[in-house]
Amino acid sequence: MGASAAHGQKIAFLGTGKIGEALLSGLLRAGKDPADVLVTARRPERAAELAARYGVVAASNAEAAKLADTLILAVKPQDMGTLLEELAPHVGADRLVISAAAGIPTAWFEERLAAGTPVVRVMPNTPVLVDEGMSVISGGSHATEEHLERAEEIFSSVGKALRLPEAQQDAATALSGSGPAYFYFLVEAMTDAGILLGLPRQVAHDLIVQSAIGASVMLRDSGEHPVKLREAVTSPAGTTIAAIRELENHGVRAALLGALEAARDRSRELASGGR
Ligand SMILES: NC(=O)c1ccc[n+]([C@@H]2O[C@H](COP(=O)([O-])OP(=O)(O)OC[C@H]3O[C@@H](n4cnc5c(N)ncnc54)[C@H](OP(=O)(O)O)[C@@H]3O)[C@@H](O)[C@H]2O)c1
Repeated sequence: MGASAAHGQKIAFLGTGKIGEALLSGLLRAGKDPADVLVTARRPERAAELAARYGVVAASNAEAAKLADTLILAVKPQDMGTLLEELAPHVGADRLVISAAAGIPTAWFEERLAAGTPVVRVMPNTPVLVDEGMSVISGGSHATEEHLERAEEIFSSVGKALRLPEAQQDAATALSGSGPAYFYFLVEAMTDAGILLGLPRQVAHDLIVQSAIGASVMLRDSGEHPVKLREAVTSPAGTTIAAIRELENHGVRAALLGALEAARDRSRELASGGR
């Protein structure tokens, strides 16, 4: 084992693509010493590029597993089997293994790692790229309070982190994992509506995006229930209620209930090895 292994809490990213890099840069902005961060990738040039850009340490999977206290696994779910085969012999049960892979249960990792290895599963979403992520954290059977806190601290550097029982991960995937896509879909449809009303595309886009940002900040910062906020812009016989009637006529609320249920069911199917 290298001499540096004895110093401080080291974190390794095993697989440093979009999500790994977003987390890595968030951690560094939060004050983590780059010398205590190791990165791996399938292509050595990718790890070297990250080392040059952030001052972190490029390593092989085996080196990272030996040196780091916390291992963050951020390869695609289909690459996780190969990664685990490579890692397992080097990971002592005193390490914390955090998986950011969608849909793979903690038990799957526990079966492949040394007995008693603590595993934490996290479902982030893409706004981690702009420090507004929503990450849902669940501990496996050997994860303690300290392990969950460590995971929470890491993911809080790129947005919010919330602990939930692992049984609720599929529901969280439907809400926050896929969530940003529903908002993009709405913005796309509302921009088309602006064009129907005769606005230039860019104008329609800007009006809707800023309305979405304003509404999101109001929801987050006012502490008001969404119904109250909506009522505040819904005057008697006004424009908003005319639009709401159309949304209700088309069953948009029921469509959302069905859509999120479908996403939850698909997440369950994928988690149990379905295709
Ligand atoms: N993107 C999302 O919206 C999102 C949201 C929630 C969760 N996730 C989860 O986050 C994980 C990563 O997603 P991503 O979008 O960041 O993927 P990505 O950009 O494709 O990154 C995957 C990284 O893994 C590396 N890699 C693959 N096999 C490896 C191996 N055997 N050893 C070391 N490194 C290896 C790749 O290296 P190369 O660059 O050299 O190919 C790449 O850097 C996935 O499990 C996904 O389910 C993603």
